[in-house]
Amino acid sequence: PAHIFAPRLNSRGVELGDDAARTAFFAAIAAAEAPGQPAAPLISGQPAPGRRRSVVSPADGRTEVGVVIEASAETATAAIAAARAAFPAWAATPAATRAAALERAADLMEARRERLIALLAAEAGKTLVDGLAEVREAVDFCRYYAAEALRLFGADAHLPGPTGEDNRLCHRGRGVFVAISPWNFPLAIFMGQVTAALAAGNTVVAKPAEQTPLIAAEGVRILHEAGVPAGALALVPGDGAVGAALTADPSIAGVVFTGSTETAWAINRTLANKRGPIVPLIAETGGLNAMLVDATALGEQVADDVVLSAFRSAGQRCSALRLLFLQEDVADHMLALIAGAAAELTVGDPADPATDVGPIIDLEAKAGIDAHVDAARTAGRVRFEGRLPGGTLARGTYVAPTIIELAAAKDLDREVFGPVLHVVRWKSNGLDRVLDDIAASGYGLTLGVHSRIDGTVKRVVDRLAVGNVYVNRNMIGAVVGSQPFGGSGLSGTGPKAGGPLYLTRFAQEQVVSVNT
Ligand code: SER
Repeated sequence: PAHIFAPRLNSRGVELGDDAARTAFFAAIAAAEAPGQPAAPLISGQPAPGRRRSVVSPADGRTEVGVVIEASAETATAAIAAARAAFPAWAATPAATRAAALERAADLMEARRERLIALLAAEAGKTLVDGLAEVREAVDFCRYYAAEALRLFGADAHLPGPTGEDNRLCHRGRGVFVAISPWNFPLAIFMGQVTAALAAGNTVVAKPAEQTPLIAAEGVRILHEAGVPAGALALVPGDGAVGAALTADPSIAGVVFTGSTETAWAINRTLANKRGPIVPLIAETGGLNAMLVDATALGEQVADDVVLSAFRSAGQRCSALRLLFLQEDVADHMLALIAGAAAELTVGDPADPATDVGPIIDLEAKAGIDAHVDAARTAGRVRFEGRLPGGTLARGTYVAPTIIELAAAKDLDREVFGPVLHVVRWKSNGLDRVLDDIAASGYGLTLGVHSRIDGTVKRVVDRLAVGNVYVNRNMIGAVVGSQPFGGSGLSGTGPKAGGPLYLTRFAQEQVVSVNT
């Protein structure tokens, strides 16, 4: 129904096709200042001590981007106690005031856009175009959840019916939410989790990914400056032990997590074993995302969409295409077009505007991807490999776009989080088998279909319980509010981020029935 959609505007982009606008945009990023302050644990606005560590750039593994002070498990527990103390006041703050703070945070991010993009390139290895998309997504989350706060928390809903009483439903915050976010969208997902929890009237303790604490600290500074009270949002940078301490705390009211399926299972176990209230886990995890292409698909469009879906952001998106199913009579032709388009990609320094594919997040992640590609090479299954950058960049954590052909879909049994595309051929009478293979993985995040036969598209969509389905287009870059994002099964719990059901999961419902 129309009424579940809050009115809102999405963020503005940059007209990169306009020479003057593009030049000014890239020049402003190059001139942006690096963050001067370390990313320290921040509790009630006060920095807490911890272990000092250098944050290095994935682009070369040696340049220090900044310094993080990592929290101990005791600091994490102290952060929860402080957030508990701040909860009653924030929960009692009118929804309009909470929403106004999020709107101001969106304005501040837009005002500091180039600086944030520069930091995303330095700390997370994001290309400048990816950085722009990420800042826009973070802005969109703030504005969307602000509008949603007004819709859901602004006024009670009257529930008419046969009881002859005045029945009212209201939503309110649950308490302290723990937000554990990933390195691949270190600003957008970090801000999305935190602002959803805050919009719903919770206080928040946020633990960003170990690899990307600096951008998270910027996000926290922006939210505090925008009017979120110091006590309502704490930051605890650190490793998995910090996350474990936060989720094991008996007084938390919920966990929002984006990361691996394994970690989501571990959080579920921790929540099951602790005392205290029974609390929700909102998890968004990985995928073995497939795209199905039949003989009626348009070759050039498929090539563009496959290359974007598999290799943009160096394949480090949970939405990225991993398994491409090509109908056998067009497979050779399609593969040639895709390899031709992939050969045009420039792998290199994320801060260079000419770069299409930046580095992998760290050496450990690169080693895992390299081992996977090496095994495929030994088995004679690599069909295409792009060029790696040379010179000083050779010591970076780069992986070239690679295409591997598999004999069967089951030969890929794990998410390879990098620019590696796997291709499987399917027989013209074998569509049901392909759909069974895709369903058998147990994941359900994104799915692509390229076909000009409506009946085929319907068969695919009806058979697969996948969160986000993209027809005759690429399969990444879900837009907040228009394409709410998230999956099912091994891919997560739902509800979808940037969608109309999200904030309700962060809230408790109360019904008051008055005998009039
Ligand atoms: N929301 C992101 C996307 O749609 C997640 O990877 O690409």
